[in-house]
Amino acid sequence: MAALFCIVVFLLAPFISHTADPDPLLDFCIADLSSSPSFSSFPCKPASNVTSEDFFFDGLMEEGNTSTIFGSKVTPGNVLTFPALNMLGLSMNRVDLAPNGMNPPHSHPRSSESGVVITGKVLVGFVTTGNVYYSKVLVPGQMFAIPRGLVHFQKNVGDKKAAIITSFNSQNPGTVIISTTLFGTQPSIPDHVLSQTFQVDSSVVHSIESKFGS
Ligand code: GLV
Ligand code: MN
Repeated sequence: MAALFCIVVFLLAPFISHTADPDPLLDFCIADLSSSPSFSSFPCKPASNVTSEDFFFDGLMEEGNTSTIFGSKVTPGNVLTFPALNMLGLSMNRVDLAPNGMNPPHSHPRSSESGVVITGKVLVGFVTTGNVYYSKVLVPGQMFAIPRGLVHFQKNVGDKKAAIITSFNSQNPGTVIISTTLFGTQPSIPDHVLSQTFQVDSSVVHSIESKFGS
């Protein structure tokens, strides 16, 4: 049995890929968002309906509205907003940060991330699976890299607005925001689970939940 298991693992090894999304099999496949995705891709819009406009996206031109509880706004350029990315294994975000604003700790289950600071002064940090924290304050033109799935954040530590462009090796990286994932679910995670997790009593859990709408 063990030998069979080893043979199966050995045969599958070449297919255990480090790329997040599968390679494209066609030149393009503009997503037909009215259909449901199968695996990671959407079906294609009929080629006869495709125009130049399908391949260009101006959704990252405008500054996002940072009047949010975190003083930040992430504007996605992924397959759901820019269907030309379907099947390409790529996407980008624009992250706007008010002074002191933060893109709170989160992770992307399907992608690594790189980013470049466009304006402002930004503290970028992430934590490894071994609980090591890496961070640096970046200024315009400086880049960062976040390995796939690791928890990371960006915080504006300057006195002016900041903006970052981030990029992903997935058309739909997914985002797990730690605070809302634990304290803003529907229905909510039972109090006793959260109070035991954080070793606090349930009044603290309720107080945090009240901020995240759960
Ligand atoms: C930044 O971390 C982003 O996910 O765009
Ligand atoms: Mn991110």
